[in-house]
Amino acid sequence: MKVFKDKTSLRNFLEPFRAEKKSIGLVPTMGALHGGHISLVETCKKKNDICVVSIFVNPLQFNDKSDYEKYPHTPEADVELLEKARTDVLFIPDYSEMYVSNPMLKFQFGKLEAVMEGAFRPGHFSGVGIVVSKLFNIIQPTDAYFGQKDFQQVLIVKQLVKDLSYSINIHTCPTMRDTDGLAMSSRNKRLDESSRALAAELYKSLKKAADYGHRSSNVHAEQLKKIIVEHLAQYPEIVTEYVEVAHKETLDLMSGECNPEDVVMLLACYIGGVRLIDNMFVKDQQL
Ligand code: PAF
Repeated sequence: MKVFKDKTSLRNFLEPFRAEKKSIGLVPTMGALHGGHISLVETCKKKNDICVVSIFVNPLQFNDKSDYEKYPHTPEADVELLEKARTDVLFIPDYSEMYVSNPMLKFQFGKLEAVMEGAFRPGHFSGVGIVVSKLFNIIQPTDAYFGQKDFQQVLIVKQLVKDLSYSINIHTCPTMRDTDGLAMSSRNKRLDESSRALAAELYKSLKKAADYGHRSSNVHAEQLKKIIVEHLAQYPEIVTEYVEVAHKETLDLMSGECNPEDVVMLLACYIGGVRLIDNMFVKDQQL
């Protein structure tokens, strides 16, 4: 695996591949890698001639300073996992390499960011938009890979690509789960033993609602939400930030009777001070 810390050397390295019309896949990450990231790398390797992984913990997308400071860092383990997955290139810049000065640019994604992560983490998606645009400009990939676990982020990135006319195919890869259903996330590394055991309840609440959706001939958004909220309410240690039922393409919040094919259920909760998110379709569940 070739490792680059500076963008000029990376650009120079990639130039001949681009000249030969090779496809370049990008897996953007913030490190503390897990099976979910590795599944993105594997998909990227299958679909592209060259697979570039970036690791950069982007301060701009953290609205909470202590969340940024506590974000897990496991650089040696990350390199080992990427080598094992036969990653071609790792781009691991430091702050000054990514941000020559503090950006003045701000992105606004309208109604796509008015709810859920955008509403509870002001400025988060502007920060994501800026760093993803920078990575797209530096690496100029033909394809980029994102996990469905960050559902709203995927829709925002697709909008960014449309709005700025990037010629990049955005691939959404399924959420990888531990055996008890917990969605893999770098933040899971911060859970203590009891919080980790409890964290599987997030998955179970979504699964219970999805099962109701499968059984019912007509699905009501309020009923889906109630099942999830009531399941989580059994555990006082789980502090729910939001539970929403939304249209899977527009993120419009749903109410009343809805077509289960159109619906995604999303939640954010704190367990032991760690913020976790997850989501699930009612139909086409990835189990
Ligand atoms: O999903 C993430 O890890 C980050 O938001 C991303 C896309 C790497 C941008 O910093």
